[in-house]
Amino acid sequence: MPNPFPRSRILGTGHYLPPGVRTNLDLEKMVETSDAWITERTGIKSRHIAPDGVYTSDMATAAARSALEMAGLKATDLDMIIVGTVTPDMPMPATAVFVQQKLGAGVCPAFDLSAACAGFVFGLSIADQFIASGQMRHVLVVGVELLSRVVDWTDRTTCILFGDGAGAAVLGPAEATVGDAKPRGVLSTSILTDGSLAMSLNIPGGGSVSPTTHSSVDEKMQYVHMKGQDIFKVAVKNLLSASKLALERAHMTKDDIDWLCPHQANKRIIDQVMQRVGVAPDKVLLNIDRVGNTSSASIPILLDENRRAGKVKDGDTVLMCALGAGISWGSAIVRI
Ligand code: UT7
Repeated sequence: MPNPFPRSRILGTGHYLPPGVRTNLDLEKMVETSDAWITERTGIKSRHIAPDGVYTSDMATAAARSALEMAGLKATDLDMIIVGTVTPDMPMPATAVFVQQKLGAGVCPAFDLSAACAGFVFGLSIADQFIASGQMRHVLVVGVELLSRVVDWTDRTTCILFGDGAGAAVLGPAEATVGDAKPRGVLSTSILTDGSLAMSLNIPGGGSVSPTTHSSVDEKMQYVHMKGQDIFKVAVKNLLSASKLALERAHMTKDDIDWLCPHQANKRIIDQVMQRVGVAPDKVLLNIDRVGNTSSASIPILLDENRRAGKVKDGDTVLMCALGAGISWGSAIVRI
């Protein structure tokens, strides 16, 4: 029998930002930088920082609970849990395992996905495939990062960028009927990786290449290392091509898009993508000024904030796009 639900839909979203805030003025006291430089070069004014004792899985669980509540579902309704993160609770087991336990979800596949800033879009794409195939009914996708624990707070080229937080979406079958002109749900996704820039953004230590030793710690290999300009150059180009591909796959043009929901890495990247895709500034969702770059959590936090604020409404069409370490990038078009 053909699957009556050929696509998935976002049933609920949620997010969690830890209450502690670190401003650019705070950073001025820590490294040689200035509020003016950070604001002009990135668009960031402040970021949230989790306190000691709060783990990645705690933030993920808080975001997931909100998403489940909006979806009107219980944790035991989940058939799969995907957590996009590069800052897991520990290397093994997956952070998704702790999220499963903390939520009180039943036995189901629960795994982490390492696609850095593109983690949520990758997770959404995977969830969509499982639901559209009819194999799974309710899938939780979380993007969560506790980057403040892997940032070198003496390195001004990275520490000014990142923040902590979690965003989540619960997906389920879309009830679209055949022939519905404006079906709600995940209308298309596009995900890609180009490993040729693998070493431009990485955490070099703690894996099989450089297991943690006294000398690896002395060499600061446990921290994020980034060649910012390498990433910047490809970001605009790849986010544009991914956005075009998602539009093409959804048989849409830029005029069908109500909201651009881009990964919040750098306001200058967002502005260029907006211009090249051809979306008006008032259609671009932003929170980079107060949230910074939360990697995989970026898009679901932004989406949830705007849904709860009533800006993004049911039936609106949202273009999401993200690029990060790997480099991995992707986009999705979702009618909310
Ligand atoms: O989300 C994951 C993907 N990541 C990204 O998308 C990040 C992409 N890259 C970027 O957003 C930008 O490259 C950065 C924001 C990281 C850096 O901005 P930039 O305009 O590319 O600066 P730059 O690296 O070319 O540095 C320009 C100058 C340098 O000084 P000199 O050599 O010109 O004297 C840096 O040392 O700015 C200096 N600089 C700073 N000055 C004050 C670098 N960081 C800082 C700082 N405060 N925090």
